[in-house]
Amino acid sequence: MNTLRIGQISAREVLDCRGLPTVQVDLVLEGGPLGPVMGRADVPSGRSTGIHEAAELRDGGSRFGGFGVLGAVGAVRGEIAAHLLGRTFESQRDLDAALCELDGTPNKSRLGANAILGVSLAAARAAAAARSMPLYRSLNSDAHILPLPLVNLINGGKHASGELDFQEFIVMPVGAGSMLEALQVSTEINLVLGSILLPRYGKSALNTGDEGGYVPQISDPREALGLLHEAVDKAGYTGEIVYALDAASSHFYNKESGIYTVAGKGYSRDQLIEFYLELIEDFGIVSIEDPLDEEDFEGFAELTEASGIQIVGDDLFTTNPARLAQGLEVGAANSLLWKVNQIGTLSEAFDAARMATGAGYTVVVSERSGETEDPIISDLVVALGAGQIKTGAPVRGERTSKYNRLLQIEEELGATATYPGRSFRKPV
Ligand code: PGA
Ligand code: ZN
Repeated sequence: MNTLRIGQISAREVLDCRGLPTVQVDLVLEGGPLGPVMGRADVPSGRSTGIHEAAELRDGGSRFGGFGVLGAVGAVRGEIAAHLLGRTFESQRDLDAALCELDGTPNKSRLGANAILGVSLAAARAAAAARSMPLYRSLNSDAHILPLPLVNLINGGKHASGELDFQEFIVMPVGAGSMLEALQVSTEINLVLGSILLPRYGKSALNTGDEGGYVPQISDPREALGLLHEAVDKAGYTGEIVYALDAASSHFYNKESGIYTVAGKGYSRDQLIEFYLELIEDFGIVSIEDPLDEEDFEGFAELTEASGIQIVGDDLFTTNPARLAQGLEVGAANSLLWKVNQIGTLSEAFDAARMATGAGYTVVVSERSGETEDPIISDLVVALGAGQIKTGAPVRGERTSKYNRLLQIEEELGATATYPGRSFRKPV
């Protein structure tokens, strides 16, 4: 970004896939050989959020049901623009530091993490445009690793109007040889899954949740996992697929009683860990996200040790280097779910990823349930070389935009493109 000057910053409300407003930022850099170049980025939004996430600014009141973001848009157009216009920054890190300093709060609650992240991401895009490079290349000159997708085919929890308490039932196409083949396999399984659900549960089972997965009216997680297995077998991919869950368990945990309720049955922490170990054994599960409450570092450590599989911290870590450091100390989880809007600047998110991989944790780059058609996380996952992405079912524009961007990147990378497949925990 050096020698480039911030020439213009603008922002507006646009709609996300739930029809709710979010922030879109345009940022123009001037002074490079190409003249003024613009970067544009949209800010995603979660529904099953962690309590330690950076604070998204919403307007409240009656406009857009309280979800308006005119305050955050106003912060970008007003205070942030006044602070940045005409200035040059040596690096993304310097710009992000200036944004954090201007906000002055630990969780970005004054200007809004949605205002700050929009500027941070738009600046990264503008810097890439100034170098005539795709974003993944501008961020990492050696980027070549495509991600294994964790494809969420059955939705529950806060993402669906069904009875499943676990949020995501996921297939991982580890036997595929490329991104394109991974999508082909996942799509074929999804089509077969639909054909199994329809006669058994009726038309309503084909309704989809926030991330595009089906919502059959069932409550038993074993039944959901059984359906995935059935679809995989019928589609002809037995042995080519492994399985994952995002339990998002803070949302079915009662902090007062210390009890988790799954399919109407109460579980203590130890009983739930036992239940996960059974599911891992019975269904070939190789990754579980947020198996326990977001404050239960100890329980995470116990399951990580006992299971040997990938245990992912989403609400636990909230992409926050300080929370992650706390986890590393006790061996809580062995994988970081990486969502840029949980922390609010690109540099801080990169710090969290670096800290994770430095400690031998894997990194799973993730969408939010509230997305726009902006595919920026596809460039970011390749830039990080993280080797895993979670971006929903391969249906509906806000999810397919990410997959389609990955297909473009795979083609651009040509022979250097590496799809990790079964090596997803060691993608390099
Ligand atoms: P969210 O869910 O975007 O609604 O927070 C995604 C997840 O829990 O992984
Ligand atoms: Zn999650």
